[in-house]
Amino acid sequence: MKTFEKQIRIIQEECNQAIRKAQSEEALEQVRITFLGRNGKIAPLMVKLKTFSTEEKRILGPLLNELKTTTHAAYEKRKAELAQEITKQDDRRQQYFDVTAYRYQPLHGSLHVYTHLIEQLSTIFTSMGYEIVDGPELETEYYNFTALNIPADHPARDLHDTFWFHEPGMLLRTHTSTVQAHVMETRQPPIAVFAPGRCYRNEATDASHDFMFIQAEGLLIDKNVSVSHLLATARAFLQTIFEKEDLEIRVRPGYFPFVEPGLEIDASCPFCTSGCSVCKKTGWIELLGGGLVHPNVLHYSGIDPEKYSGFAFGFGLERIAMIKHGINDIRLFRSNKIQFLDQF
Ligand code: FA5
Repeated sequence: MKTFEKQIRIIQEECNQAIRKAQSEEALEQVRITFLGRNGKIAPLMVKLKTFSTEEKRILGPLLNELKTTTHAAYEKRKAELAQEITKQDDRRQQYFDVTAYRYQPLHGSLHVYTHLIEQLSTIFTSMGYEIVDGPELETEYYNFTALNIPADHPARDLHDTFWFHEPGMLLRTHTSTVQAHVMETRQPPIAVFAPGRCYRNEATDASHDFMFIQAEGLLIDKNVSVSHLLATARAFLQTIFEKEDLEIRVRPGYFPFVEPGLEIDASCPFCTSGCSVCKKTGWIELLGGGLVHPNVLHYSGIDPEKYSGFAFGFGLERIAMIKHGINDIRLFRSNKIQFLDQF
């Protein structure tokens, strides 16, 4: 009996110490399981109590009960203390929470080179009084060829490798010159429009050709418009886009059925004075096709060629971007490579 009493006291002591030492709710729960759990240290004492005589039980029973109740009470008290400490810690943490210490660094997106260049060009042309217009990418043979003085049997149709639809006479536009015909059909001069947009050609891709690319078309129709207006406009916008005030242009004869005379317009190399790899040591870069709108085209669209004249020019946006940024492969524009897109 004395041994049993001693055992109760030892367990009581052990338990009090363990409860006092528990520094977290998890540690305290572990103490509860060790002492008060079904397989804990107090449970076997209850079993052993049954082996004592009634007289002994009368003394040992209350001792054992006291062990259980005091242990429970100590456990509950410590539990409440720990909860309070946690609340205090939270309050303290919140009080000293420094919102400026946390630096969120979001990933910044950027405009695609196309978008950026179209925005730049649109700003330049609107500042010159042009209106930005759009046209359909799914076109008819009429607007892509016929209305532009390229009748059905004209060899120039072969120059444009066309994506035809099963629907007869329907195609993906091969150039933005289609917009000329649409605009002139619905408006009367003076007309000054600039039309950037996607074009499609059914050709094998390489570093400078893609089956989908972006062109831009400029068109101005009024009385007494001449080649010098075209050249002044070309020079002005190329100087701005390449950020070079002394950039010069030169013209060579070119053939486009919808303009007469037809011109190829080159710009002096923006990067050198005596020849570099960009201009292939020539000092000049081919950039624009242009000319005076052919009287047939004006006539087709219902504008009197006797009264009005105009100029048109077109160019590939990728070509400008490639020269401007030193990009060596046109296929990069649509590659979705972050390393490429990130640079702009
Ligand atoms: C034309 O498409 C004419 N419509 C331009 C024009 C407009 C001339 C108005 C006169 C008056 P061309 O086929 O040369 O012209 O194409 C113009 C530019 O588009 C080329 O210099 C090139 O930069 C770009 N281009 C043409 N085909 C492709 C292609 N497959 N991939 C990428 N760019 C292309």
